[in-house]
Amino acid sequence: MGSLTNKRVLLGVTGGIAAYKSADLVRRLQDAGAEVRVVMTPAAREFITPLTMQALSGNPVHTSLLDTDAEAAMGHIELARWADVVVVAPASADFIAKLAAGEGDNLLLAVCLATPAQVAIAPAMNQGMWGKQSTEDNLHTLQRRGMAVFGPSEGSQACGDVGLGRMLEPLDIVAALVPLFARGVLSGRKVVITAGPTREAIDPVRYISNHSSGKMGYALAEAAAEAGADTWLVSGPTGLPCPDRVNLVSVTTAQEMLDTTLGLMNGCDLFVGAAAVADYRPKKQWSQKIKKHSDAMTLELEKNPDIIAAVSALPSRPITIGFAAETEHLIENATKKRIAKRLDGVIANDVSRSDIGFNSDDNQVTLVLDSGIEEMPVLSKNQLARVLIDRLAQLL
Ligand code: C5P
Repeated sequence: MGSLTNKRVLLGVTGGIAAYKSADLVRRLQDAGAEVRVVMTPAAREFITPLTMQALSGNPVHTSLLDTDAEAAMGHIELARWADVVVVAPASADFIAKLAAGEGDNLLLAVCLATPAQVAIAPAMNQGMWGKQSTEDNLHTLQRRGMAVFGPSEGSQACGDVGLGRMLEPLDIVAALVPLFARGVLSGRKVVITAGPTREAIDPVRYISNHSSGKMGYALAEAAAEAGADTWLVSGPTGLPCPDRVNLVSVTTAQEMLDTTLGLMNGCDLFVGAAAVADYRPKKQWSQKIKKHSDAMTLELEKNPDIIAAVSALPSRPITIGFAAETEHLIENATKKRIAKRLDGVIANDVSRSDIGFNSDDNQVTLVLDSGIEEMPVLSKNQLARVLIDRLAQLL
């Protein structure tokens, strides 16, 4: 698992000999788990072909601002919105000057102007250009506006000079990008999240369970870890990989999930119950496989413990947030659940819609808090998780 898992990186390439390293950078970003799209300036195409970058990134390369076909496919505003981070590597002295001046006459400049995402630049230029006051002033301007500057490093240059101005190596650029996502709103906090389904055994080969994928709980855990929390994920069987920097405790039954969760409550600041806990379990578990003797069979079930209600009943409890998967009367039912289980908030999910919810990658939820109702936009589960974690951090 890479440290840029699920991150959308828009790689901007400008005209400089270091552009040949951008091809390797695409690979290194992908190795770290990122999805990569490439935008090239006209000058960059003199050094490396869009075809190379397209083959490596697996996505069409974007080169032109004034091409109606390209704009119709994925225009500069869509690209700007798509990115979680824009990294320009190499960033030439000319590009840095235009960016500092707020110009937008090529696609990459326009994307940098339009994007709400963090922009990072990895300068690459001759040491003489790097040493100019104008370059220094432009970089200060960009840094003052919140852009990150990676490098440059020192050494021999393509022109034969030796000095500062070499682009950072691709792996160093990847390493510099990772901390940009550690935003720290939960640093010093402990977060416990339940996720996935539970399985309740009938006999050694059969069980009762549900279709929960666990994706939302895992995305929340990843976002909490990104936000700096000491994050614990108590998960039923999902087959999903453990997100970076998350402590995963795998469980099977609701009872195990309850015991593990309660064992993690010491010092817990935020608990999110994202698991689809089986409401009932077989009253009796057969130690041998049940044989099919008769035409009908009755299975007696008993109620499972309510994990989130047990957490919210603790004398010194964390901020406790539940999920409500509903097919009708979404807000009304979620509000009832919030009150009945004494929760601080409920993330209400309309599971009657096939485009969002349970097994889908996108989701749209409404946050039901004591203070009111907050509707969230339709987002990928990963993006939604970041928005939710930011909002829940404010409740602490
Ligand atoms: O009652 P219902 O299952 O609809 O409530 C959903 C919320 O309660 C979710 O946050 C879920 O994780 C939690 N829950 C639980 N233990 C149960 C049942 C649900 O923690 N036994």
